[in-house]
Amino acid sequence: MSMLEMIEKQTLLPKKYAQMSVQQMEERVREIKNKYGNRIYIPGHHYQKDEVIQFSDSTGDSLQLAQLSAQNKDAEYIVFCGVHFMAETADILTADHQEVILPDMRAGCSMADMADMDQTDRAWDALQKKFSDTILPLTYVNSTAAIKAFCGRHGGATVTSSNAKKMLEWAFTQKERILFLPDQHLGRNTAFDLGIPLEHMAVWDPISDKLEYEGNVEDVKIILWKGHCSVHEKFTVENIKELRASSPETNIIVHPECSHEVVQLADYAGSTHYIIEKLKAAPANTKWAVGTEMNLVKRLGQIHTDKVVTSLNPNMCPCLTMNRIDLPHLLWSLEAIEEGKVLNKIKVDEDVAKEAILALERMLQRA
Ligand code: 13P
Ligand code: SF4
Repeated sequence: MSMLEMIEKQTLLPKKYAQMSVQQMEERVREIKNKYGNRIYIPGHHYQKDEVIQFSDSTGDSLQLAQLSAQNKDAEYIVFCGVHFMAETADILTADHQEVILPDMRAGCSMADMADMDQTDRAWDALQKKFSDTILPLTYVNSTAAIKAFCGRHGGATVTSSNAKKMLEWAFTQKERILFLPDQHLGRNTAFDLGIPLEHMAVWDPISDKLEYEGNVEDVKIILWKGHCSVHEKFTVENIKELRASSPETNIIVHPECSHEVVQLADYAGSTHYIIEKLKAAPANTKWAVGTEMNLVKRLGQIHTDKVVTSLNPNMCPCLTMNRIDLPHLLWSLEAIEEGKVLNKIKVDEDVAKEAILALERMLQRA
């Protein structure tokens, strides 16, 4: 579903929540959680605000939350504190009687919106003409259920930032070439890590319907969809140069959704989970500049008081769509459950889900 469709589906938050104090809202959330116990499950992505993370039953990155949703057989209501594609994944991986709720339908992902089905069908036709049946599609989980279904239908799979390398290795055992959607940076950084030179990577532009490549097309090993994360693209080579000059002792660690140039200049690069573990294991009194979402960077600074943790870009703001999920929206979803209603329900079309699960399961078997 596109951002516009999500906004159209959204019912507005009732005014009463603006009149409640934070303390009153927190008390009500606790009360409903206690009353319902295991019947309500609240997964929270690491990029969510502290005001909702404090109530999450599990926190994790995209892979962990997909695994936990698949394992959870008890909860009748899964109130997903994350973005739309994560809630869709949870719906696909849970049983029919389990309701998945996204507290604010406007919590989409601009990257997932960069690949729609019309564009993908057009790209696939053109690429089949050029390369015949030599391509396997892989999609970052940050994509719509329809794109996951497309990958499932064509023998491909989903990947997350923490298993992209493993999945790309597997994909090359299946076909000669890979179409990687929708994040060109994760695709490029991962393929480069596997030893594929930049000269063997082409880019598909879904707006102009053109393959951007200057060499001999026979050499193309991976076709990168021209999409990106508008949050991670804000970390720049300039940020790194400035920091190296002003604080050479600071370690720089970035997420692979950052550009190839930034990843190459950083000291470390890896998934959200990798960044969390690396900072946990770092010695006291070390300094870290982190290139990922701000809510997580702030939290890492609060947890590791013996280390200095800052954002690689000093003017960074959080992912705006992740931030749509806040305490009032969480409480609104929970109070609706108490009233016997399911607000902002995420339900993936059955035919789409049947094919999307193939792509997800190919990943979960190898994750
Ligand atoms: P991971 O949780 O896979 O690191 O994904 C990062 C992200 O951008 C989620 O939207
Ligand atoms: Fe999408 Fe980037 Fe926000 Fe993640 S951080 S939800 S990829 S826009």
